[in-house]
Amino acid sequence: MPLLNIVNCLDPILRKKCQRVDNIDDSLITLTEDMIETMYDSSGLGLAANQIGRTSDLFVIDVGIEQEKRDPVVIINPVITASEDEVMGEEGCLSIPDIFAEIKRAQHVEVKGYDLRGNEVRYEAEGFLARAFQHEMDHLKGGLFWDNLSKAKRDMLKRKFKKKLKELQT
Ligand code: CO
Repeated sequence: MPLLNIVNCLDPILRKKCQRVDNIDDSLITLTEDMIETMYDSSGLGLAANQIGRTSDLFVIDVGIEQEKRDPVVIINPVITASEDEVMGEEGCLSIPDIFAEIKRAQHVEVKGYDLRGNEVRYEAEGFLARAFQHEMDHLKGGLFWDNLSKAKRDMLKRKFKKKLKELQT
């Protein structure tokens, strides 16, 4: 299975709201298999469709994070149906490599969506997994984790990212 190219935060597709998936066909299934492989190859724990240049409303995520075992799942047309308690924690993103920041997130979330067979799925998550769900949901709405920071902090991280990008390209 081919690895997919992960776009970085300068790509406008990451600002696009992903579109509802109405039809789960073979090409979509193959896409999600490639996304899972790409996620692990990049040492990530979640990957949203627009990060690999698509606008389908879905992400892949490793729900085994807290158990320290691999348990990748695909969630289509996901929604957060409940969230509770706020907590600060460090966050990074495969589309903003090497940049990390403390972000406030709900400590508990409930997420509903559909699996690849079109069956409804529901996940209750807390801690790091809850954070990962919220991070991927942001992507699907055209958001990035640093949108949750002040403009000054975000601009500082953006400059840092662009500097690193330049270093990589020279
Ligand atoms: Co991300």
